[in-house]
Amino acid sequence: MIDVLLGLQWGDEGKGKIVDYLAANYDIIARFQGGPNAGHTLYVNGQKVVLRTIPSGVFHKHCLNLIGNGVVIDPVSLKGEIEQLLPLQPDVLSRMFIAHRAHLILPTHRALDAASENAKGSEKIGSTLKGIGPAYMDKTGRNGLRVGDVLSKDFKTKYDKLVAKHTDMLKQYGGEPIDWKQWEQPFFEAVEYLRGLQIINSEYWLDMQLKDGKKILAEGAQGSMLDIDYGTYPFVTSSNTIAAGVCNGLGVAPSRIGEVYGITKAYCTRVGSGPFPTELHDETGEALRKAGNEFGAVTGRPRRCGWIDLVALRYTVMLSGVTKLIMTKTDVLDEFNPIRAAVAYNVEGKETRELPYDLCSVDVTPVYESFAGWDKPISACSSYDETPQVFKDYCRFVEQYLETKIAYVSNGTGRDQLLVIP
Ligand code: GDP
Ligand code: IMO
Ligand code: MG
Repeated sequence: MIDVLLGLQWGDEGKGKIVDYLAANYDIIARFQGGPNAGHTLYVNGQKVVLRTIPSGVFHKHCLNLIGNGVVIDPVSLKGEIEQLLPLQPDVLSRMFIAHRAHLILPTHRALDAASENAKGSEKIGSTLKGIGPAYMDKTGRNGLRVGDVLSKDFKTKYDKLVAKHTDMLKQYGGEPIDWKQWEQPFFEAVEYLRGLQIINSEYWLDMQLKDGKKILAEGAQGSMLDIDYGTYPFVTSSNTIAAGVCNGLGVAPSRIGEVYGITKAYCTRVGSGPFPTELHDETGEALRKAGNEFGAVTGRPRRCGWIDLVALRYTVMLSGVTKLIMTKTDVLDEFNPIRAAVAYNVEGKETRELPYDLCSVDVTPVYESFAGWDKPISACSSYDETPQVFKDYCRFVEQYLETKIAYVSNGTGRDQLLVIP
């Protein structure tokens, strides 16, 4: 069976930390979508590491790590990431595999991302500018270059052909020219480096591993509300971040999916533009940002903060068929009283628990339930039993609303700062 772990909000739920913890029980960790727009933070022996494309199982010696075909890979970013890891994990390359079918991010994809955002002006998505959207556009437009292409003799010809197309597109955007030529030399150096890595037909490889009884965890990037189909379109990323993305992002059949772990923070954040019904524009929002250290792992941008949104969570739990919830950053709420949770939306005078089709075009006022703050810091608890009753009541309320059990509660950045709920 292949279990899945994914974010239920707008990303940055703490996926990296949780995968790093759960990896002890798995043989393989496989990323199924996204690319270097992701920033998954792990603390290993007190040292902070941010992973972008590499799966978060690398710090376990027994774990193999697969970058699946649904991922878009920037060779320069990947090479940099490996070089950062090598002193910490000298055997990282022998345990890392890359799918032939994964698409490549070219320097011109990054330039196109920037040109597109500039052209949108005040309506910009707030992209991480890593070239994700343009790379996926070329994939679905059937123009893309894949990892397997770097092994072919005519890679440069294919590259030149696609770049000629991109150059025309860049001209159409107008605006300040972007000097992407300076990114070409590092790109070709990184492509050379990529050729030396373990590039495989990963769908067969995974099938063989599953038949051998190996345990696999599929690691999601971004969050369900950034899903290209079901997120707050157009303020989304360009891949399927929900559980359905695992099947096409790794080439595994739905019948092989086992547990689906869905992660939510005890509150909510979003980075970039787009609707966020429970966002707090006041000192409480500011206090959440400070207490939760809510600054982007990739771009350093301050994250927008607000209360947990159970309406949105009920939707994303449904979309992925989440079987177990994991609630992170509970310690961040230690100093807050009261604590709020959105339990319905008031949409133009009507109360609903259903997510409107287009959150961008309607006026939404969240309806909140209030909870007393915890009378003992969660950060100081070393078991769920030790947590205060008010916290247990809060967890029970979330479980009942979402009709899904919380399996773990995370109460700090460290791998072992995790409380198991029996
Ligand atoms: P990801 O993209 O989902 O992997 O999440 P990020 O790494 O972008 O952001 C999560 C941030 O919260 C990181 O800085 C983590 O170290 C941190 N974090 C994760 N779990 C907890 C927790 O339970 N408590 C606190 N205080 N921080 C946490
Ligand atoms: P992890 O895996 C949070 C957001 C961007 C932007 C939108 C589109 O760390 O949770 P893109 O670069 O994909 O074109 O940006 O999506 N975004 C993320 N927000 N966490 C992420 O990844 C994100 N990846 C993309 O901020 O609003
Ligand atoms: Mg992140």
